[in-house]
Amino acid sequence: MTITSSKDARVSLEDLITSSNRVSAVIESVRSTMLAPDARKKAPTFTTSQVAAVCGLEKAAIDYRIKKGDLPTGQMDDGRRRKFSLSDTRVWAQAYRSKSLRPNNAEAITIAVANFKGGVTKTTTAVTLAQGLSLRGHKVLVIDTDPQGSMTTLFGLLPDVDVSDEKTILGLCYGSELAVDYAISPTYWSGIDIVPANLALYSAEFALPSRQKTEPNFEFWNVLNNGIDVARTNYDVIILDTSPSLSYLTINALLASDGLIMPLPPSTLDFTSSGQFWNLFNDLAANLLTNRGKSKSFDFVDVLLARVDSNDSSSSVVREWITAAYANMVLPVEIPKTSLTASASAEFGTVYDTEPSSINSRTYRRAYDAYERVVELVEGQIQTAWKRQIGA
Ligand SMILES: Nc1ncnc2c1ncn2[C@@H]1O[C@H](COP(=O)(O)OP(=O)(O)O)[C@@H](O)[C@H]1O
Ligand SMILES: [Mg+2]
Repeated sequence: MTITSSKDARVSLEDLITSSNRVSAVIESVRSTMLAPDARKKAPTFTTSQVAAVCGLEKAAIDYRIKKGDLPTGQMDDGRRRKFSLSDTRVWAQAYRSKSLRPNNAEAITIAVANFKGGVTKTTTAVTLAQGLSLRGHKVLVIDTDPQGSMTTLFGLLPDVDVSDEKTILGLCYGSELAVDYAISPTYWSGIDIVPANLALYSAEFALPSRQKTEPNFEFWNVLNNGIDVARTNYDVIILDTSPSLSYLTINALLASDGLIMPLPPSTLDFTSSGQFWNLFNDLAANLLTNRGKSKSFDFVDVLLARVDSNDSSSSVVREWITAAYANMVLPVEIPKTSLTASASAEFGTVYDTEPSSINSRTYRRAYDAYERVVELVEGQIQTAWKRQIGA
C-alpha cells in the first residue's frame, strides 16, 4: 500500500470546485437517464377502479355515468382497459367531491411541514400530501423554502439548472416583490403549481435580518405570510416545505401557516430534537409576537410517525414517549419504512408517482395506503379550518 504524503492529500479550493462540477455533471446525466426519454417527469394514469375510489363510487357507477357523456371518458389501452389521465381524474373528483372542496368564500389553508432535523421525510411528506390532495380535486400551491431545493427536485426541476433566482421567494425576501405570484410555475402534476428553490435562497438569511435593521416597521417574520395573501384566494391548499433548521425562512413558513405537520421517526435522537424545536419556536414566538401584543394559533398541529421500522424493537418504546408527549397531536397512522421509497429511482418520486395499477409489492402497498390515510385525515382538518374561516 502506498501512503500519499500529506501534501498530496490536501484539498485546495480549486479541487473542491472541480469535484463540485463533477457532481453537477453526474446529477445531470443521472437525471436524463432516470427521467428519460424527455427528461421530464410524467404523472401516472388511473384505472376505472381508481377513479371510482377517488370519487367514492362503485366501478359500475363510473361506466354508467360515462354514457351520459359530460365527464372525461379516458382512453382505452392495448388491453382494452380504460385509462384516465391525472387531469381527467381530477375532473371526476371535482364532480363527485364538490362538498369536500373549498367553500366559495373561504381561502386556501396553508400547511408547513417542519422539523429541525434533516432526513425525517419532511420533503417526501410535503410532496405526497400535495399529490394526494390534488388527486381529490383540490388546487394546490407548493412553495419550496429550503435552499437545498429537494422538493423542487421531486417535481422534476434541478435547482441549479432549471430554476433561476428570480423564480424563488428571494424577491419577497429582498422586497423587490410583495406577492409571490411572480414566482409561480405549473408542474408535471396537474393541479399542483410550484414556487421552486435554489441555493441562492441562502442569501435570504442575510437579507431578512439586514432589512429588519434598516427598514422601519419591517417584520421579517411576516414576509411570506404577506406574500401569499393573493395566492390564498387562488388556491385551495398551500404547502410549504422547510429546511432542517429554524432559519429566518423557516420562521416565515411557520408564521404563514394555518396547520403544521411534523414528521417524526420514532428514534431517540429525533424525539429529543423535536423537543428542542418546540422550545426554540416558543422562545421565538414570545419574542416576535407575544412581546408585541400579538399572538398566533394554528388550526392543527400534527405529529406524523414516519419511516417506522417494524423490525426495530426500540422504536416501540420511543413511540410510547411520542404519544405521551404529543398526545392527541399524533396522527393515528404510521408511515412504514420501505426500501422501495428509498430506492434510487423512487427518490425522484413518491408513492403517487408509481402507476397505481403496477403496485403489487406488499410493502409498497402499505406505504401507499398509509399516505392515503394521512391525506384523508389532513383533508378533514383542512375542511374544519375552512368552516372556522367562514364561521360555519
Ligand atoms: N417511508 C420511507 N421509508 C424509507 N425511506 C424513506 C421514506 N420516506 C422517505 N424516505 C427517504 O428518506 C430520505 C429523506 O427524506 P426527505 O423527505 O428528503 O427528508 P427531509 O426533507 O426531512 O430531509 C430520502 O432519501 C427519502 O427517499
Ligand atoms: Mg427536505
